[in-house]
Amino acid sequence: MDRIRIIGGNQLNGEIPISGAKNAALKLMSAALLTDGTLNFTNSPNELRDISSQTELLEHLGCVVTREENRMSVSAANIHTRTAPYELVRKMRTSILVLGPLLARFGEAKVSLPGGCAIGTRPVDMHLNALEELGADIKLEQGYIDAKAPAGGLQGGKILFPKVSVGATENAMMAATLANGTTVLANAAKEPEIVDLGECLIKMGAKISGLGTEKITIEGVKSLNGAEHEILPDRIETGTYTIAAGMTGGTVTLKNTRIDHLSAVLGHLSQAGIEVEEQGTDIVVSREGERLQGVDIMTEPYPGFPTDMQAQFMAMLTVAEGAGMVTETIFENRFMHVPELVRMGADISVQGNSAIVRGVGGLKGAEVMATDLRASVALVLAGLVAEGETMVNRVYHLERGYERLVRKLSACGANIERLK
Ligand code: EPZ
Repeated sequence: MDRIRIIGGNQLNGEIPISGAKNAALKLMSAALLTDGTLNFTNSPNELRDISSQTELLEHLGCVVTREENRMSVSAANIHTRTAPYELVRKMRTSILVLGPLLARFGEAKVSLPGGCAIGTRPVDMHLNALEELGADIKLEQGYIDAKAPAGGLQGGKILFPKVSVGATENAMMAATLANGTTVLANAAKEPEIVDLGECLIKMGAKISGLGTEKITIEGVKSLNGAEHEILPDRIETGTYTIAAGMTGGTVTLKNTRIDHLSAVLGHLSQAGIEVEEQGTDIVVSREGERLQGVDIMTEPYPGFPTDMQAQFMAMLTVAEGAGMVTETIFENRFMHVPELVRMGADISVQGNSAIVRGVGGLKGAEVMATDLRASVALVLAGLVAEGETMVNRVYHLERGYERLVRKLSACGANIERLK
């Protein structure tokens, strides 16, 4: 199995181009199922493993997907099945996002239940309840969600999410674009990726207002068309490299990104001693003092501190001066990086959904492994500052969500390589 070897201790200096956002791209690809027109994307993170998995699923349904450099086009003009099978869905939970679009356009869809995953049970009840509010008849049979729309198609409705969910908001929003009448989503998620999806849907002819607020209103239309759309920059990749630069103490320019999508993260990083300066669509990251300072964080839905940055922030706290408390409120099992960081010499104690991280003078390289994307990248960050060699196993987790990670970091001076 491929591994990444890092010899810690090098400062990062230079430029890192930021890719398009994985968590927007995957949903935008699903949105193509709503129309027989073609969606053309630019700034698409085509090299990601999750994008390949989503491509495989869409091709199975009959879509034609082309990917070239950072452009992608998806056409769902000739869909030949409305069933998303287990072997494709289990690879990636986001596959559930084909349910709303298929149901809205074709009146029926059968999608495998995604099952458990490394960061918790992650149920899909809110996705299903939302579609039922739009009139869908949903049965769970042999591990599949079998959904049917009423004879005249989905009906607009009022959906109140009991808890903020990115995926359920997106599934409901896409389904509602083709429903009869008006749909109101209350307690909707406000993540920038949802706004990006909504903006693309509007270009496709959808009538949506309230994007980025907790109340999204969608007036159904008869059909949608193809569109051109530039995918927004990946805020989690941006935040990850901001921490990498701050931990190693160099000066790094992150190219083509959006500082305004990272306010909560940058606020905490500035308290820790990482300085960030906006230069047009770039941001320049540097560290203020010799050592970073411990800061407390608590994960929350956007605009709060993102759960997808929690592991990386914890890696930073392991070498900061003083202590920081990390509280995870979104997923119940998102501390898998803790035992691995401890193996590198970190001082972390977990109590329930909080972890106290007491900064140590330095980490020591070790052989480590993680079972999800953000936990894996946290180990890479730790490896960049650890003494000696860190070997990160299960590289495929990183490749799900970080394009050209080794190349981007080594171009800035990291001693990092991928081993076969
Ligand atoms: C999205 O997952 C992201 N994935 C995750 O990114 C991210 O961590 C998460 O949002 C939170 O920001 C993609 O966009 C592809 P949720 P999603 O529905 O939509 C519970 C990464 O590393 N819930 O907002 O699946 C759920 O268990 C990842 O890139 C229900 O109870 O997350 C969680 O506790 C991993 N019932 C909470 O809601 C449901 O029907 C929020 O989950 C749905 C969710």
